[in-house]
Amino acid sequence: MDGREDQAVAPMRDPAPPAVPRPLYTTPLGTMYVADAMDLLRGQPDGSVRLVFTSPPFPLVTRKAYGNAPAGEYLDWFLPHAREIRRVLAPDGSLVLDLGDAWIEGTPTRAALPQRLLVALLDGCGYHLCQEAASHNTAAMPAPAEWVNVRRCRLKSALEQVYWLSPSPFPEADNRRVLRPYSADMRRMIARGTETRRRPSGHLQKAAIAKDRGGSIPDAVVACGNTDSRSRYITRCRAAGHGLHPARMPRPLAELWIGLCSQPGDLVVDPFAGSNITGAVAEALGRRWICGDRDPGYAGDSRFRFEPEPVLIGDAARDGTGADPA
Ligand SMILES: C[S@@+](CC[C@H](N)C(=O)[O-])C[C@H]1O[C@@H](n2cnc3c(N)ncnc32)[C@H](O)[C@@H]1O
Repeated sequence: MDGREDQAVAPMRDPAPPAVPRPLYTTPLGTMYVADAMDLLRGQPDGSVRLVFTSPPFPLVTRKAYGNAPAGEYLDWFLPHAREIRRVLAPDGSLVLDLGDAWIEGTPTRAALPQRLLVALLDGCGYHLCQEAASHNTAAMPAPAEWVNVRRCRLKSALEQVYWLSPSPFPEADNRRVLRPYSADMRRMIARGTETRRRPSGHLQKAAIAKDRGGSIPDAVVACGNTDSRSRYITRCRAAGHGLHPARMPRPLAELWIGLCSQPGDLVVDPFAGSNITGAVAEALGRRWICGDRDPGYAGDSRFRFEPEPVLIGDAARDGTGADPA
């Protein structure tokens, strides 16, 4: 994904979260906490959240720097979070999950953990599957290196699954909020108009297709390269001598889902926020947000995403929490 694994990253750490969520900084629309995800969720009233948009620690078979659960325990670990998210979601709210790759250790075969998780969410937690989507890293590294780069028996894994779930089959959503600029071809067709005709596929293409409706409807696959290298977050982390979060989500992915599934003024929550792209995009789009990460270093450095930069509050300001000791 955008910026993932490509720069100097923060060192391995597995910090114990504080006993209660600890606010780290606030902005006009949101608050970032150092918190265990369950504690953060438990603090939200029933039905108060329009969108939980999150990329939880991935169901990886080998452990990552930021402390993902071992594969065999992943569902047992994640499902209580999913039930708590269901409780805090508004009846027409959404849970959008961005999940990474899952390979079986030592073999070039895939673990079906994301798929098992999806079935458990549908069968056991009362979610509807609104859409399966994906994030396509157009600048993906050749990973897993052993199979892709060394033995050359697999292709680059450049897709991450995105599952859009909701307690309702009809959650709040409007794709007119996330229209893209028309392609040159489409602009030409709008300019000259077209006749109703049947395409080779049998699909009837009506003349009205050439009407200007403000932009094209995006695909459910967001394609992003690694274009993040000069972002404010990266520049400020570098200037502070701090490692970058190792699994940053591409901004266009957050823009699409927050724009689609929430309205200005709605509350967006990310309990595994890392470098807090969720909060930064929610703020830019006029949504209220509550985000948290159990790692004070990641959470603290996420303030670099905001302009003006929020001031650390309380204990964090006094003891310098958020300053990556690396
Ligand atoms: C995949 S990363 C999220 C990255 C984020 N979307 C971004 O763009 O920066 C998962 C994050 O979950 C955090 N995490 C892991 N276990 C947690 C827990 N129990 N409670 C809160 N955060 C946790 C990790 O510190 C890590 O930053």
